[in-house]
Parts: sequence; C-alpha cells; structure tokens
Amino acid sequence: TFLFVLSKHNEDIRCLTTLSHFGFECLPTQLVNKSIQKGFSFNILCVGETGIGKSTLINTLFNTNMKENKTSHFYSKVGLKVKTYELQERNIPLKLTVVKTVGYGDQINKESSYQPVVEYLDAQFEAYLQEELKIKRSLVDYHDSRIHVCLYFIAPTGHSLKSLDLLTMKNIDRRVNIIPLIAKADSLSKMDLQKFKSNIMSELVSNGIQIYQFPIDEEDDDNSQCLLPFAVVGSMEEVKVGKRMVKGRHYPWGVLQVENENHCDFVKLRDLLLCTNMEDLKDQTHTQHYECYRSSRLQKLGFNDTGPNNQPVSFQEMYEAKRQEFHGQCLREEEELKQTFMLRVKEKELTFKDAEKELQDKFEHLKRIQQEEILKLEEERRKLEEQIIDFYKTKTASETSQAQVCANVKKD
Ligand code: GTP
Repeated sequence: TFLFVLSKHNEDIRCLTTLSHFGFECLPTQLVNKSIQKGFSFNILCVGETGIGKSTLINTLFNTNMKENKTSHFYSKVGLKVKTYELQERNIPLKLTVVKTVGYGDQINKESSYQPVVEYLDAQFEAYLQEELKIKRSLVDYHDSRIHVCLYFIAPTGHSLKSLDLLTMKNIDRRVNIIPLIAKADSLSKMDLQKFKSNIMSELVSNGIQIYQFPIDEEDDDNSQCLLPFAVVGSMEEVKVGKRMVKGRHYPWGVLQVENENHCDFVKLRDLLLCTNMEDLKDQTHTQHYECYRSSRLQKLGFNDTGPNNQPVSFQEMYEAKRQEFHGQCLREEEELKQTFMLRVKEKELTFKDAEKELQDKFEHLKRIQQEEILKLEEERRKLEEQIIDFYKTKTASETSQAQVCANVKKD
C-alpha cells in the first residue's frame, strides 16, 4: 500500500490508497528477484584443532549432514580441505564452500601452522584480482572463492588463548573477518565460561587482534559484540525433551539443547551469521580485506594513484612510464651481461694461456729428459759394442793358440 498526497496546501488532504505497487517503489523487489535467480554463495573457513567440532558445528548451522571422515592426528604439516555444497532452503539456493584446517595443532613445532591458511586466503584474493585485471573479464559468473568469514575454534580450556591461536589470528586478521568461538562449550561451567570469555577478549585486545565488528543494530537491545567469543555446541542428534524433539547432546545428568539460548550461543551465532550479517560479511570482505590486498599488490607492481607532484596520473602515462623504466632496466641488464661476458672471456683466455705455457714447459722438460736418456743409452751401446769386439778378438786369439797347441802335439 502507498499513501499519495494530492495537494500539500489543501486543508482537506485526501489520501488515496493504491491497490498495487508501482514506480521505483518496486526497486527492492527487482533486486530480490534478481538475487534469487542468480543464487547466493558463501565461503566459510573453519580454523581449529583436529576433533574440536568443526564439522559438527557446520552441519548444525546448515542443518545438513555433510559426511566427513575423522581426520588423522599424524599430519606432518597443516593442510586445508575445501568442499562446496549446493544447498536449498525453501526456494533460496546457496552455494556454500567450507574450508577446514586439517592437522592444525598436531605438530610439535607449530610456528608455521598459520602459513597455509594465510597462503590460501591470499591465493583467493589473487585469483579474483587476476580476473579483475583481465580485458575480457567475467565477474558476473565468476565463482568468487574469497573467504567471507573465518570461524576460529578455541579449545575450551577455561584458561586463556594458546600462542598458536594468537599467532594465527594475528596473521589473518587483515585478510578475513574473524569470529572467535569457544568450541564444545558444554564442557565449561557458566561461571568458568564468563571468565574465559572475558580473558579471551582482553587477550585479543592486548595483542591488537582485530575481529569482525558486528554492525550495531539500533532496534536490537542486546549488543552482539558483548557475547563474543560465542560459546557454541554442535550436534545433529535429535533428543526428546518433553513432547518435542530437539537438537541436543544427551548426558547422564540431562540434555543440552543446542538451540536453547540459555544453554549456549548457537542460535545467536546462526542468526548473526546467516540471517542478519551474511551480506555485511561479504561486503567487508570486498571493501576492506580485498581492497587492502589489492592496493598493496598493485603498489608492489609499481602502480600509483598520484605522480611525483601529487598530481593524478593517467593509466596511459603510468603504463608509458613503466614501459620506459622496464626498457631502461632491460638495456642496463643487457650492458651488465655483456660486460660480465667479456670479463669471463678474458679470464678464460688468460687461464688457457697459462695452461698452454705450463704444458709447453712440461713438454720441453720431458724432451730434455728424453734426449739425456738417449745419449746415455748410446753411450752404453757404444761401450757394449767395444766389449763385444774385445770379446771376439780374445776368442779368435784363444782359438788360434789352441790350434797351434794341437798341431805341435801331432808333430811330436
Ligand atoms: P576433524 O575434521 O577430524 O578435525 O574434526 P572436527 O573438528 O570436524 O570435529 P568433529 O565435528 O568431527 O567432532 C569431533 C568429536 O567431537 C565428535 O565425536 C563430536 O560428536 C564431538 N563434538 C562435536 N561438537 C561437540 C560439542 O559441541 N560438544 C561436545 N561435547 N562434543 C562435540
């Protein structure tokens, strides 16, 4: 319905009520229809130790049973498991991508455990940036894999955050909207939980870790930010409470109802995450985190919005300046390469000459030794020949004297 004022100055203002929508009043309807046609997508990153309840919580949040095998505790490094699901609630399609850490917190040295998470977040930003920079880009049907929210699962120790939690959150807080959760909150008493929550929040503040700021809803009295970190419990088990079947966990002492706001913050988390802030999380991802990645990446590539005198630079000028700079750099590098090559050639020539001279000297030396040997051998040969001649002479003389002796004997 729409109230239409016929005349402002008329004392008897007549209000007409239209029967149907018309004019630009229908703009929101157009948007809704277009969005439903296009479908929605949402990408969640779950960071938390093995077995802390990541899959159970996601199943409970989306009321689906995404079959998962238990993860081993023996991975040598942290990995990420990415799965995309096509869900539907009434006529609303949702393409949900869930990225889960694998082996998180299981290594002895946890120093670099956050790195795969950081690399994954940056890789999704980079893929989007590359698509944006294409001449023929198709951002309309592009599957945007940038992570919209990171559910960070804190172990319910009741003490404080672990150094791994602080290190990881510190390294990802400029890249993604972090919502901290106390996992398996059913293991903490009400008092311990309150204390644990305030310890965690003061640790986050003192370490300068930025978490997602829920937009302030003026109509909503209780500030959602005060509930952080949400104490959550997950379960797909249907338990009978009175005459109703509810999602819960059955214990010897009673039933914990997942959707009972007196038992845990699950409902609050689901409302804030899916009903009221999904679009804001996506907006923040694009306008804050992606923008930050994009500007630092483009600066690294040498782009600038202003020139040396703070004057705006046109893309053409920037491209030309970059081209010139690159050309100059190529020429410099070519010249450097040439110089190095010449130096190397000279060095090699010198080494070859030295080696040649060394070989020549060696040859001369060997030749001299050989000649001396030849001379020595000649000398020995000459001596031997003289000895042979002497020998034959002695032999002939002794044969002659022997023959004479024989002749004399015969005569007698
Ligand atoms: P991985 O993917 O193997 O790292 O495990 P995960 O973090 O996805 O944990 P998962 O959801 O598989 O839960 C591990 C165990 O914890 C299961 O036995 C769950 O029933 C139990 N669990 C999950 N959520 C809760 C919870 O809120 N409270 C309690 N007490 N147990 C829970």
